[in-house]
Amino acid sequence: MYDATPFLPQRGGLPGLRKAAADCRGCPLYENATQTVFGAGTGHARLFLLGEQPGDQEDLRGEPFVGPAGRLLRRALEEAGLGDEQPYVTNAVKHFKFTRSGPGKRRIHKAPSLREMTACRPWLLAELHLVSPDVLVLLGSTAGKALFGSSFRVGEHRGVLRPMPDLNGGAPGVGGAADAPRGRLLATVHPSSVLRSGDRETAFRGLVADLAVAAGALG
Ligand code: URA
Ligand code: SF4
Repeated sequence: MYDATPFLPQRGGLPGLRKAAADCRGCPLYENATQTVFGAGTGHARLFLLGEQPGDQEDLRGEPFVGPAGRLLRRALEEAGLGDEQPYVTNAVKHFKFTRSGPGKRRIHKAPSLREMTACRPWLLAELHLVSPDVLVLLGSTAGKALFGSSFRVGEHRGVLRPMPDLNGGAPGVGGAADAPRGRLLATVHPSSVLRSGDRETAFRGLVADLAVAAGALG
């Protein structure tokens, strides 16, 4: 079974976690990717943004959301009044999964499987425990499925603040269920889906409206 758990350190906080994740071999995705793209931000962040997996540019630079989707996300955060917030930003899966196609053999994003999401989940749970944000924003259905299972649908949750559901207790090295994250949760669409949308402006407004709900919760 694929599982990142053996690679998680018992201590060392977020810096220790980031360092250990660089050597994770919990599933086969590390084999073809350039590097682990761990979360960016500090343990003090009030806002936690969860994407799917790194893309081409993230894979090359080692930082989440630094490509086109990241630029759109940043613009949406600003318009939602979150321009000054310093969020913790991460992905459900920490390695870039891709296929090569076309004449230039461009690397094309491929959706992670449930097995890969499950393997990588311990990193995400550890990040969530250590940051313990006031608001967790799920960017798209993969983020929701990775945390809450394959039946998760963004449509049923988007733009609505809910209490954080039980995340199956603690993660290794970061305490048990007693100090589980207690913030609130909100789902919205993935910024890449805005880029793909036939009506980008409306899709963008929808993302901004959802993020504005998170902004309201943070006060
Ligand atoms: N899409 C994601 O889900 N995450 C990134 O880091 C970049 C694009
Ligand atoms: Fe480890 Fe996650 Fe990378 Fe798989 S995708 S090797 S579980 S960090």
